[in-house]
Amino acid sequence: MPGDRKPLISGNWKMNINHLEAIQVVQKLAYLLSSDDYVAVDVSVHPPFTDLRSVQTTIEGEKRCEVALGAQNCHWEDKGAFTGEVSPAFLAKLNCALVIVGHSERRELFGETDETVNKKVKAVFAHAMTPIMCCGETLEEREAGQTDAKVLGQVKAGLAGLKAEQVASMVIAYEPIWAIGTGKTATAEDAQAVCGAIRATVAEQFDADTAAAVRIQYGGSVKSSNAAELMGQPDIDGALVGGASLDPDEFAKLVQYRLHGG
Ligand code: 13P
Repeated sequence: MPGDRKPLISGNWKMNINHLEAIQVVQKLAYLLSSDDYVAVDVSVHPPFTDLRSVQTTIEGEKRCEVALGAQNCHWEDKGAFTGEVSPAFLAKLNCALVIVGHSERRELFGETDETVNKKVKAVFAHAMTPIMCCGETLEEREAGQTDAKVLGQVKAGLAGLKAEQVASMVIAYEPIWAIGTGKTATAEDAQAVCGAIRATVAEQFDADTAAAVRIQYGGSVKSSNAAELMGQPDIDGALVGGASLDPDEFAKLVQYRLHGG
């Protein structure tokens, strides 16, 4: 059953790459990836909102490009007086397939809570898109032995009220905050231990089939040089990649981790 989970490698561009640069990045990525890659791995890019239309038309214009379009965030309401926010309905209209929800930068810098994350996950599903729901602990929490309590608490709260089949179709990204943008990657064993605990929590909250189906990504300083080892872990089904996704050569190499070894 676990072997049935197709890996998903997602590039989270964060606040990098403008809409003109984005066209070139995606064209290069399309050139570098082949149909063999898309058979082995699902690939998504998550550009800033202002790039989405350009990236959508670029992807749709490239015949051999099967990169999925994703966003980095959305609001939970469809429309209204929410200055500066972006509706999930608008993202669906741009053919976004995936939306990152509850990234640690949004939680830490923009006040997102487990409750707003849960509302956003539901809003993403309401528009037939797939959420990538993020969780992760700080260095202080890890050192205090609170990793599982923090991460599993975020998972339980984020998944509250969802249907089992929704959870089975979604993605959970485990991103230890101390490993994001620091060059410090969790060891494959540490990453596996937490991803395994996340799957066990999904089994408890829902059921064994749901837990076997949900895809769990690891994120935090993933590069082409460490992807194969991380992806070789039984409960790691992909990667959420920041810095290494900005360079199409490096990101393509990372997507092709199975060819470059570990
Ligand atoms: P880095 O790959 O730059 O560490 O970022 C990870 C991340 O936050 C992806 O969402």
